[in-house]
Amino acid sequence: MCGIVGYIGDNEKKEFLLNGLKELEYRGYDSAGIAVLKDGHISSYRALGKLENLVHKTASFSSDGFGLGMGHTRWATHGKPTEVNAHPHRGEFSYVIHNGIIENYKEIKENLQADGITFLSQTDSEVIVHKFEKFIREGLNAQEAFKSTINMLQGAYAILLITKDEPETIFFAKNAVPLILGQNANGEKFMSSSDSPLIGYATEVVYLEDGEYGWIKKDEISLFIDESPIIPIFQTLGRDKIYAQKDGFRFFMEKEIYEQSTVVSETLMGRVNDENIELDELKEIDFSNIDSIKICACGTSYHSGLAATYLFERLSKIRCSIEIASEFRYKKPLLDKRTLFIVISQSGETADTLEALKMAKKAGMQTLAICNVDNSSIVRLSNATLLTRAGIEKGVASTKAFATQMVTLWLLALYLGQHRKTINNETMQNEIKALLHTPSVLHVNDNTHEKIRRLSKRYLHGHGFFFIGRDIFFPLALEGALKLKEISYLHAEGYPSGEMKHGPIALADSELFTVALMPQNMLYDKTKSNVEELSARDATILVISPKEFDLADDFIKTSNQSHPMNEFFEMMIITQIFALEIAVRLGNDVDMPRNLAKSVTVE
Ligand code: G6P
Repeated sequence: MCGIVGYIGDNEKKEFLLNGLKELEYRGYDSAGIAVLKDGHISSYRALGKLENLVHKTASFSSDGFGLGMGHTRWATHGKPTEVNAHPHRGEFSYVIHNGIIENYKEIKENLQADGITFLSQTDSEVIVHKFEKFIREGLNAQEAFKSTINMLQGAYAILLITKDEPETIFFAKNAVPLILGQNANGEKFMSSSDSPLIGYATEVVYLEDGEYGWIKKDEISLFIDESPIIPIFQTLGRDKIYAQKDGFRFFMEKEIYEQSTVVSETLMGRVNDENIELDELKEIDFSNIDSIKICACGTSYHSGLAATYLFERLSKIRCSIEIASEFRYKKPLLDKRTLFIVISQSGETADTLEALKMAKKAGMQTLAICNVDNSSIVRLSNATLLTRAGIEKGVASTKAFATQMVTLWLLALYLGQHRKTINNETMQNEIKALLHTPSVLHVNDNTHEKIRRLSKRYLHGHGFFFIGRDIFFPLALEGALKLKEISYLHAEGYPSGEMKHGPIALADSELFTVALMPQNMLYDKTKSNVEELSARDATILVISPKEFDLADDFIKTSNQSHPMNEFFEMMIITQIFALEIAVRLGNDVDMPRNLAKSVTVE
């Protein structure tokens, strides 16, 4: 996810901007840039790749004395990672940096182009600076022009804008993406996407709320919401950088679990409208030549792919199968050019998945990557890519990457159904409603977290866990078990509920813990019978369901959702927190579990 820093004051601006961007490196980025306005002149530098490249480019630049500046690290969403697409973006006399996604950028861009404005980048962000300058040319002052620009934008944003028209001011706006303002007793003002760049510089901060915007000068902060001025409430800033990078959470994994609502909104942005799914990224794929799908992936990505096989067959009415990439590679698979080959990978670098992709390409198949890292090996090799937009994931145990993969695959299944005319209007409406409801389902409920924390103490031993579920809840069971074993080191397996009686039930006794996923919208009664069979053998049962269940030893109640996918995401969060709290009680290193690597680039 992109990072933003800004500064107003007398000190060397480059120093704060580059140090600040360094602190934001952990969010992931593919290019970086700064712009400094001093004595009516704007100097801007951008570089692809590591910050070192920007440091090198700005080596002879200095900016002592009063002035202002802003810096940005970009994680590509619209437009490839190139220097031209890096921020700041410039108009004739102003520069902008932006985090997030402007959903209606195409429409704004077309209008501006019709007025003769030339765009230099492929980004959504560039529209902001041109629209702002257009308002100025039409006679508005800079404050009015900024306000009018913000009013036009739909989507998520944290924005900083500087202009020669108002050389002592930084304009800012925030919606659904974090932005913090800071200050200190020396009269310096700061802006940042997170606390960590501010530590050691600002002494107090204000965390902006969605919809807030305004402008900052050396001695003044003007803050507004809905056109009404508000007084910023500052609070003292802590001093621990790692703590700040984790936004106050104990572990990156925990932070990433809590981020899922936000990142899934980003996954959806610009891809869903009232009536259909728009995936412009798929232009390169000729769907008229496709009559089946093969998915290949490893680990957590394999689980999202397995869940997607149900969605493709049910919604898009297309044959779909999945294989673990390391198995696929050596089985001498039969590859058919009319099969779309989909690889799923958080990192885009997993060796087995990459090699499977190479085999498919060699066989002349059309290939599509579902990936979180633009410009990764898998993205570069595939014919088309759907980026999952989860932002960098630091916890080795994958959480938000899985959630965004699932949403991307669900979007793809609907898109294909649309293309193949296998989904009627009513179903499509229903699916879109459920898709758009997903970010709110992904908000972590504090009471539920606390309940899981308390009951986790009963699950620190035993001779094994079985996570069970049916249909898409079977891959979720596999993923729940994987999370638990990755970070607790306890033995856990995922199983289809109906399969327990074909062997595993022999293990059932009071020390066998069964985590039963019992959604109300997916084969509830069938799963219930399977759980009853286990209960009759005295297994200890933790039920996750919206419906009370008498035979449960422990029960986590979910909310009353009307779509199975919404239930899926709610149960996903519960299994993630369950694994987390058990691992915490066992004293394990949650973010870096033993023996595991985040990205496995060897066979
Ligand atoms: C490693 C990670 C897993 C991940 C798997 C596949 O094993 O520890 O969390 O699911 O690789 O990674 P990918 O980047 O291809 O999704």
